[in-house]
Amino acid sequence: MKKEYILFIDSGIGGFSVLKETINILSYNYLYYADNNNAPYGSHSSNEIKIFLKDIITNLSQKYKFKIVVLACNTATTSAIEYLRSIFPNLIFIGIEPAINIAIKNQFNNILVIATPTTIKQKKYINLVKKTNYKIKSKPMHNLARNIEMYYLNKNIINKVNLLKNIYYLKAISKYYDCIILGCTHYSIIKNLLKNYINIPLIDKNKTISKIIKLNCNFLDKTMSFSTIKILLSNNDNRQKQKYIKILNQILAK
Ligand code: DGL
Repeated sequence: MKKEYILFIDSGIGGFSVLKETINILSYNYLYYADNNNAPYGSHSSNEIKIFLKDIITNLSQKYKFKIVVLACNTATTSAIEYLRSIFPNLIFIGIEPAINIAIKNQFNNILVIATPTTIKQKKYINLVKKTNYKIKSKPMHNLARNIEMYYLNKNIINKVNLLKNIYYLKAISKYYDCIILGCTHYSIIKNLLKNYINIPLIDKNKTISKIIKLNCNFLDKTMSFSTIKILLSNNDNRQKQKYIKILNQILAK
């Protein structure tokens, strides 16, 4: 019998932050696809992202069995989830969006959302903000996802300085807000690091999404007592894949 997977997709390592929370509550076979050939997604248009994802899912479905697809990426979700649902009606798509509802539930009034430029431009995101009567500032972070990816792949001094520049910028502007929503799964990867510099709450949706994934998996055989994870990279670079495996192990061990 063909092994059944839950498919996770992101442009790179960002989705590991969602995968970690999911594995904590659901043992299953996970197939993690990093479209690093087209990263960062935040520098592409929504139409390009739709095509990337359509091709990825079409190709993977010829080789692997899966019914649940997790877009572990705010940029992919806001750009393409509705389109994917319409062209793949037999699959269940679960996406992630900036956690504005969580910030509101916690009664923060002065909210800063950081996300990729593409996420902030999407109708889906604009409507999410419009639906609230809250003061929400949306700040596109042009290089942060890329800097995080590069820093984790190679912790050299240049990548460290580039990442720190972003962190100091966020620290400087954080005094104007009550909380910051991490509207990109890459940003959640450095949440603990950010906490050393920023004194206001940092909010993401990873735990909530993992619960939604578990709820949607009711029909799967959940007798597994441990998870398996298979990682695929769109650039097929084996050395990079080994680095991804190492990064994931570090994230899971925390
Ligand atoms: N991790 C992704 C997100 O949540 C995208 C980062 C990127 O490739 O720009 O938006």
